[in-house]
Amino acid sequence: MKRDPAIAPLSREHHTSLILAQILKKNAPEYKDLPVTTEGKLKYLFELMETHLGPHFRAEERIMEYLDDRTDLFKPMNDRIYHEHKLIREAVLSLQKGSATIIDDMDDFAQLLEGHIRFEEREYFQYLQDHLSEEELQMVAKLESQRG
Ligand SMILES: [Fe+2]
Ligand SMILES: [Fe+2]
Repeated sequence: MKRDPAIAPLSREHHTSLILAQILKKNAPEYKDLPVTTEGKLKYLFELMETHLGPHFRAEERIMEYLDDRTDLFKPMNDRIYHEHKLIREAVLSLQKGSATIIDDMDDFAQLLEGHIRFEEREYFQYLQDHLSEEELQMVAKLESQRG
């Protein structure tokens, strides 16, 4: 699906997170240049949470805040995304504490993350593209580029 340039950077970033989900799954195949041990995979996840997923979530949240201030059109989908971001952040904190069932917990996390990204890719971004005005798209692009 062709992405509007305003949304394309977020969409491209999903690739990294999808690969992360793949390696965290139970019985995951080995991926070139990516960790293969449980310890290494967790370390990679925690690093990505700081450098990649956290900033990505915050960019999406700035966009949702802006849109919710303007219209109720995106609210149901935005509420779902806020909720899933919360679940993902909580799951990372829980993984950081460690557990006796870490392999299963990593697999659960992978399903959660993958489901979230699939929803954004297959439904949310398409819906945005179909409903945002030119002015809103420009604002989305601006908010997207302000990382922090
Ligand atoms: Fe998200
Ligand atoms: Fe996303």
